[in-house]
Amino acid sequence: MEINKVIDAMTDYYSNDWKRINHFTKVYSFAKIISDCENIDEKDKELVEVSAVVHDIGIKVSEEKYNCSDGRYQEIEGPIIAKEMLSDIGFDSEFIKKVCWLVGHHHTYSNVIEISHQILIEADFLVNIGEEMIKKDKIEIIKNKIFKTMTGLEYLSWLYNV
Ligand SMILES: [Fe+2]
Repeated sequence: MEINKVIDAMTDYYSNDWKRINHFTKVYSFAKIISDCENIDEKDKELVEVSAVVHDIGIKVSEEKYNCSDGRYQEIEGPIIAKEMLSDIGFDSEFIKKVCWLVGHHHTYSNVIEISHQILIEADFLVNIGEEMIKKDKIEIIKNKIFKTMTGLEYLSWLYNV
């Protein structure tokens, strides 16, 4: 399975950094659950799954280069490394282009048109809310402004009682 190769490559890339590895593993799980339940087509499913695994790939270089993991650095650095990793695994260039776009836009919450983009954002929030211990009133805002899929909303409510 191609997705296992991506998970292996990301785990190796972030080896000894269990927090990052745990993070993308959880985001991947929620992204898979949402895309399975929302009945999106197979090509979008693969896109969501691969993007969820590599979405934070830019953090490492951003920290090394700029001493900062700010979203805007990640959005510059992430796609470059994602392209290299996914080409090595053997994905086609059209698919890699789409993944790289998502990696570069996973902190962009306005004008979300593609379902793959929406699901990636929701999966990342489902994990970040817990990891960053975001307070209830802020979770309500995130729910109203960001979440759109039925499955994402259902999980948000199960996890955080909103
Ligand atoms: Fe993330």
